[in-house]
Amino acid sequence: MFEVNRLAKVSHDPENSRSPYLFSGIDVHIQQAERISLIGASGQGKSTLLRTLALLTTPDEGKMMFEGASSSELGPRQWRKHICYVAQQAVMLPGSVEENLSTASRLHGYSFDRKLAEELVHTSGLTGLDLSKNARELSGGEMQRVALIRSMLLRPAVLLLDEVTSSLDTMNTRAVEQLLQEWHAREGTTMIWVTHELEQAVRMSERVWFMSGNTILEDAPTKEFFREPSTEAARTFIGFKKEEVQS
Ligand SMILES: Nc1ncnc2c1ncn2[C@@H]1O[C@H](COP(=O)(O)OP(=O)(O)OP(=O)(O)O)[C@@H](O)[C@H]1O
Ligand SMILES: [Mg+2]
Repeated sequence: MFEVNRLAKVSHDPENSRSPYLFSGIDVHIQQAERISLIGASGQGKSTLLRTLALLTTPDEGKMMFEGASSSELGPRQWRKHICYVAQQAVMLPGSVEENLSTASRLHGYSFDRKLAEELVHTSGLTGLDLSKNARELSGGEMQRVALIRSMLLRPAVLLLDEVTSSLDTMNTRAVEQLLQEWHAREGTTMIWVTHELEQAVRMSERVWFMSGNTILEDAPTKEFFREPSTEAARTFIGFKKEEVQS
């Protein structure tokens, strides 16, 4: 369904790195709906990788295919209908929440499904949110969920989720996790989550991509990865994270 071969992005600050690439040699093969978590240290290029997969930034090398068509054949507009990025920092368009939710749909040539939008607003923990409210006056956590719902309404085959619960408290994080679990089951959406919370990776994915050394160093089933990572880099990373959780 979604296939990426030898994807690379040249680093724009190579003097600060041992490699001329921010990442290279990225191979991705997704045959059916999956839930993948993308983990790794800060600055590894996780956000840039997701942005590249969504064609929000151009790859410097490699090839991407979605259902038999290459990204260059489809072009960014068509491509982003299928593979949709939800940013780490939500950006609201001017206007109300409802306008934010409906504009994205209309821009992509879909009619606005108000009923579904209201259902998603409710299940993401935003019950009672006034849709006529100015979107730029929302809290960070509210914006994050509106941005997520805005993308879900496009019903992409692949949702690229960049720390989408980072501004939320535990209760709302769980609401969003549940919402996305149900969405995955109901719509068959593939989800690639960037998260710094290893417990979230365990809860939300059956496959892990561990980014280190300018590439996806490990691609493994989640349980296997956390039970026995194959690389020293991953063992160190998991070890550090465990200490963080305990301290
Ligand atoms: N071509 C490039 N495109 C984007 N960032 C680049 C590039 N080359 C080098 N960089 C640098 O690499 C880092 C990539 O950041 P990115 O946001 O992708 O990392 P991240 O893994 O998502 O980090 P975090 O966990 O903190 O969100 C930044 O420091 C950026 O300046
Ligand atoms: Mg990031």
